[in-house]
Amino acid sequence: MKPLIIANWKMNPTTTKEAKKFFGDFKKELKNIKNAEVVICPPFVYLATSDKRQATRIKLGGQDCFWEAKGAYTGEISPQILKDLGCQYVILGHSERRKYLGETNEMINKKIKTALKNRLRPILCVGETLEERKKGKTNQVIQRQLTKSLQNIQYPVSSIEDLTIAYEPIWAIRTGNPCLPQDAKEVGLFIRKILSKILGKKISESCRIIYGGSVNSKNAADYIKKAEMNGLLVGGASLSAKEFGRIVRSIL
Ligand code: 13P
Repeated sequence: MKPLIIANWKMNPTTTKEAKKFFGDFKKELKNIKNAEVVICPPFVYLATSDKRQATRIKLGGQDCFWEAKGAYTGEISPQILKDLGCQYVILGHSERRKYLGETNEMINKKIKTALKNRLRPILCVGETLEERKKGKTNQVIQRQLTKSLQNIQYPVSSIEDLTIAYEPIWAIRTGNPCLPQDAKEVGLFIRKILSKILGKKISESCRIIYGGSVNSKNAADYIKKAEMNGLLVGGASLSAKEFGRIVRSIL
């Protein structure tokens, strides 16, 4: 399993000119990377500005998509539109969408089903708040998020193997206070155990489990080597091609 390193640009940059420069810089920085799968998830509108030829090396992903493929859903983005723009992946259930837009596990469940049906690979984000961690509820929260989000998934087996779970503890996002690798490892093992219950052992073993939350070039390798994660979901540090390049190289 090649490690999966994802750049989540969130709502950045704010001009097309900068976005084009970002893509160009990333392309240069990552041109010799072969042993990792690198995915950029820019704001939707910039997907169209990325050079399609580049998509073969650096892959593209959406930061969200709707649970219907087309129709009267103002402001939403269809998995088919994402596919057409060259996306192979889609982040679903990010904690920022759960918090600011009220996304629920039930909504995320519908989105995962539609994404899979349309051959987009979902990256399902799960993670606990600081309060939940302090109360010792981390596993309980993660189990609920996984069970509800993955309920009754109808899938061709080949595509469920493309499911990725991103463990993103909410208290570690944008705080400069990353999760200790040992703690991330424990949660990663727990996620695999729950996946095995929901999807069966074989499929659960083929899913990637990745870590996100204040990842930078100094701590990235610890999550792969010590925490045994299958990749990283990078926010702030992915807004610099140089730093993101260092992260990718540090884990190879
Ligand atoms: P930061 O890397 O900025 O903490 O963000 C993590 C994240 O939310 C990635 O999806």
